[in-house]
Amino acid sequence: MSASTYAQQHRDRFVEELKTLLRIPSVSTLPQHQDDVRRAAEWLLAHLRDLGMTAELIPLEGGHPIVYAQSLHLAGGPTVLFYGHYDVQPVDPVSEWTSPPFEPTLRGDDLYGRGASDDKGQVFGVIKALESFLRDEGRLPLNVKVLIEGEEEIGSPGISRWIERHARKVACDFAWVSDGQLYAKGLPCLVTGLRGLLYTEVEVRGPSHDLHSGQHGGAAPNPVNAVAAIIAGLKDRRGRVTIPRFYSAVREPSGEEKASWERLPFREEDYLRELGIPVSPGEQGYSILERRWARPTLDAHGIAGGWTGAGSKTVIPAKVVAKVSMRLVPDQRAKTILRAFEKKVSKLASPGVEVEVRELAGGDPVLISPTAAPVQAAMRVVREVWGADPVFVREGGSIPIVAKFDRVLKVPTVLFGFGLPDDNLHAPNEKFHLPNFHKGIETVIRWMERVGTK
Ligand code: BES
Ligand code: MN
Ligand code: MN
Repeated sequence: MSASTYAQQHRDRFVEELKTLLRIPSVSTLPQHQDDVRRAAEWLLAHLRDLGMTAELIPLEGGHPIVYAQSLHLAGGPTVLFYGHYDVQPVDPVSEWTSPPFEPTLRGDDLYGRGASDDKGQVFGVIKALESFLRDEGRLPLNVKVLIEGEEEIGSPGISRWIERHARKVACDFAWVSDGQLYAKGLPCLVTGLRGLLYTEVEVRGPSHDLHSGQHGGAAPNPVNAVAAIIAGLKDRRGRVTIPRFYSAVREPSGEEKASWERLPFREEDYLRELGIPVSPGEQGYSILERRWARPTLDAHGIAGGWTGAGSKTVIPAKVVAKVSMRLVPDQRAKTILRAFEKKVSKLASPGVEVEVRELAGGDPVLISPTAAPVQAAMRVVREVWGADPVFVREGGSIPIVAKFDRVLKVPTVLFGFGLPDDNLHAPNEKFHLPNFHKGIETVIRWMERVGTK
């Protein structure tokens, strides 16, 4: 037989197994799901061992374990490092789900459930490609290391530190990451850049205790007003971030890269309609794709404090917390930007309040050369399997480990995702298009054959 035939014959079982994985609510950010996250790791561990791979759980202090597996049977042969994540985002607002988030449900060709696309469905597709070789031929066409983490959705804090100290263990020739999507249905893409992320919490404290706003309004500092002023002051009217030197390390994409983006099918009207907005705000002088892929930005995600319940309560709260993040682009560094951000925030603090900035997550941006050999090999197999030449694009989202593969392991990463742009990542009704699951498996199989020594 062949690995591809094996995969075709076992399609239905692959889907059933994926459903089992999707039933485990491995929400990494919520402490009440800690045991579930661990269960997902153990499930994957058992699964990889069952395939005959040497596998272990690597504990991370105060965090969720890494699932690590390997098969290094070809002395001197090339080694690929596959990466994915088994943790998922919270499900709120849960009332918006048509079927329960952890009861995977098939509607048409789409499998609905939290993590179906991001990233359980895709990383499981990679595992099923490995199974197809191992069960059909008894061995893999190249040396394989598998790294599946449980903290990607919280910024990969543990694995980012771990990899600095264990670079030898995961040494490889190239990496493969399936944690993304096609550019559009029917149009696959290979990703040449990811934005980085610096995610912070800004706490603003005013009076030592909550106050009656009638008694003290006008004389007491108000942390809600203060944090609103801080957030407002971080961007100017032209959509530029006001932090000094924020843009100084930003590298402009080449004219060639920009020209290739101009040729992509993209219609501003369609984009606005899809988002349900009348105009796109943002930095003037840049196209929407440039703003999403090659420009850094800053967004607030929520403000908690004071009175947000129904009705009115006349209070000046003692404190308020805002979540603020920045998407970063090459060659910005999260560490450098954090210091500049802290300085700017304290300058924007109004009299009478105290401000504290806490870093919740950070990851550097990365670029991947489209001419790297494993990327070129991927281009060919994607064309074969998907029936269309893949386009080269960047991605506005972040996968923190990829910058580490570049900087610590010094290897290129093939970023090929087989989700769809409307998979509802991080949102209610996340789904995974199952035909893409099977094509994704086939893509990995053919790519391994191509880059392997078989
Ligand atoms: N898979 C996504 C990143 C992504 C999104 C890739 C869309 C391609 C298309 C990843 O799981 C993710 O959500 N990353 C977070 C990282 C953060 C928490 C450090 C992100 O980008 O917000
Ligand atoms: Mn993901
Ligand atoms: Mn995600």
